[in-house]
Amino acid sequence: MNTRIAGSTAGHETFPAAALRAQFPALQRAGSFIFFDNAAGAQVPQMVLDAINQHLLEHNVQRGGRYPQSIAVDATVARSRASVAAFVNARRPEEIAFGMNATSFIRTISLAVGQTLERRNEIVVTDLDHAANVETWLALERMGAKFVWWKMRPDGCLHTEDLAPLLSSRTRLVACTLTSNALGSIVDVRAAADLAHAAGAEIFLDSVHFGPHGPIDVQAFDCDYLVCSGYKIFAPHMGFMWGRYDLLKQLPTFREDFIPDEPPGKIEAGTFIYENVAGMDAAVNYLAQVGRNLAGMSGTPDPKSLREDTHYAMNAIQVYEQKLSLELARILRDCGAQIYGIADDARVAERVPTFCFNLPGIQPQAVTEAAARADVGIRDGHMYAPRLMKRLNLPVETGAVRVSLVHYNTMAEIHRLGDVLVALRRRA
Ligand SMILES: Cc1ncc(COP(=O)(O)O)c(C=O)c1O
Repeated sequence: MNTRIAGSTAGHETFPAAALRAQFPALQRAGSFIFFDNAAGAQVPQMVLDAINQHLLEHNVQRGGRYPQSIAVDATVARSRASVAAFVNARRPEEIAFGMNATSFIRTISLAVGQTLERRNEIVVTDLDHAANVETWLALERMGAKFVWWKMRPDGCLHTEDLAPLLSSRTRLVACTLTSNALGSIVDVRAAADLAHAAGAEIFLDSVHFGPHGPIDVQAFDCDYLVCSGYKIFAPHMGFMWGRYDLLKQLPTFREDFIPDEPPGKIEAGTFIYENVAGMDAAVNYLAQVGRNLAGMSGTPDPKSLREDTHYAMNAIQVYEQKLSLELARILRDCGAQIYGIADDARVAERVPTFCFNLPGIQPQAVTEAAARADVGIRDGHMYAPRLMKRLNLPVETGAVRVSLVHYNTMAEIHRLGDVLVALRRRA
């Protein structure tokens, strides 16, 4: 499946952003403040807060005991695993592992892969990716890994035609993102997976930035491993990963002797944060609820409908967010901003509403400070992608300005940012 394909628009011509905003207490409490730094973490709906509270108030104990509170924790973890499995379209819940964050999962898998390098010792990394999915692999050099760079083109995108000649019988794995956390460009990961597999290699996908913007479907992507972070998809700080069961089973991971050599336990060393896992389950249910409402269905989602319901929601979110992208691009162009990455309206389906830009003659920090004074939260810097900044000929220390929207953002908020940028340019 091509991740760039927008979903059906049936039933959601007008996206209910206002009604959805009402479900996010932080948005209500923040008054006039605009959350435009969602790539660094999104807000959580009431359902997620309730699930976290319920866990802490009613069963904040270790799992694996024979008393009711502990049995409830086991049930929460199992339920969340099934929900996340549905969310990413896993073949079985055991393919989902919970942990601290995406980076630590990439480190866990890369260390395991590092122990399996023999004649196939080449790893393909990209200069579009977040450093978490680059440095972790580069650290395998002392285990004998060699690296091949899949470079983005001047349009800010990774093109699969460029990947093909990099692959050979020496390629062990391709590590790439689904979507750039800096430029917002979406990668055609299915085509990349097909190429990797044709060369006998595996593909590891970083879906952290794509997560809030479109449907994750590990079967359609035909990938081998995929990581994601809860805090970008309306859940608390935690990470999860998916891997093909048979591949996870073979990987040599660290585990204590008493942990069976089986997924998911073999990649979940130690205790993870159960209240956040409960929150992650609730975030999937929130998205499922959005899907059901948009589809005009009544009642709460049941475990069997989670896949369809969340998929529907993510398709609708993708369609709405494209409208936000078009408007934000227009405003930025009108301000004379240099947009890095896709700026052409005709290619809007190839990006998410995450924009990196600079205003001529104005330091990125001055832009974000002016926005902060006007109650708009945006970010400046290298976006944890220093190689990408170098490719854009930007100093890594100052980088660019990033505005990153999600489905609870609105056109009116974009216009308020536009006013800030216009005023800044007038003064410059
Ligand atoms: C694309 C991408 N990959 C990886 C990460 C790192 O995720 P985590 O903080 O969960 O380790 C981020 C964080 O912003 C990201 O945007």
